[in-house]
Amino acid sequence: MEKLLIVANFKSHMNNNEAKNWLETFLTYKNNLLKVENKEIIIAAPYTLLMGFNLSFASTNIKIASQDISMFDEGAYTGEVNGRQIKDFASYVIIGHSERRENFKETDDILSEKVKMALKQGIKPIYCVQGAETKVPEGVEIVAYEPQFAIGSGTPDTPENAEKVCAELVSRSSNFIVLYGGSVNSNNVASFTKNGKIMGVLVGGASLDPHEFYKIIENA
Ligand code: PGA
Repeated sequence: MEKLLIVANFKSHMNNNEAKNWLETFLTYKNNLLKVENKEIIIAAPYTLLMGFNLSFASTNIKIASQDISMFDEGAYTGEVNGRQIKDFASYVIIGHSERRENFKETDDILSEKVKMALKQGIKPIYCVQGAETKVPEGVEIVAYEPQFAIGSGTPDTPENAEKVCAELVSRSSNFIVLYGGSVNSNNVASFTKNGKIMGVLVGGASLDPHEFYKIIENA
């Protein structure tokens, strides 16, 4: 069986000092984390923290993700961070999150370009969809089902429905590794992962507390 993917998404939270505190606390669990073999732990940090997180986790099995990627290659694109730059610090990237679709007007075409840029650099896209009908660009293997009503609301989807949507996605491509995201915490994570139909979770708010994120890893 594939490893369960446990992805923390910090979103636009944490300055450098707060990140140091988070790391210090999370790394008190280092010995236990090093023993985790059946779960891939991935932390999607803001750009400003990627280098520090990459260094801090260098001697561990924990992987780093970026929360975005430029749709362009290197060049005159003020403010953009491109795939080659991200590749130095991260092996995964979140693409297509509903917060980016909504607040930054990212369209399917833009998202397809971003996926291409990630794949060109060997960075694995974690592609978010709101339902089984959302278009998924070619080359994507990790898909996160994230119903909008469940994001940050404290009201997750039911495990039954999440499993149903994940199964629909897998029936579209047997290569898909499908995750669930939306109000996941240490109390409900097992209800999503226990049947082996959902292959991991994407955790927003609850990942900001390092103790809680560790508990999610433990309970998943
Ligand atoms: P949440 O966010 O866990 O805070 O609901 C999930 C996400 O947006 O990835």
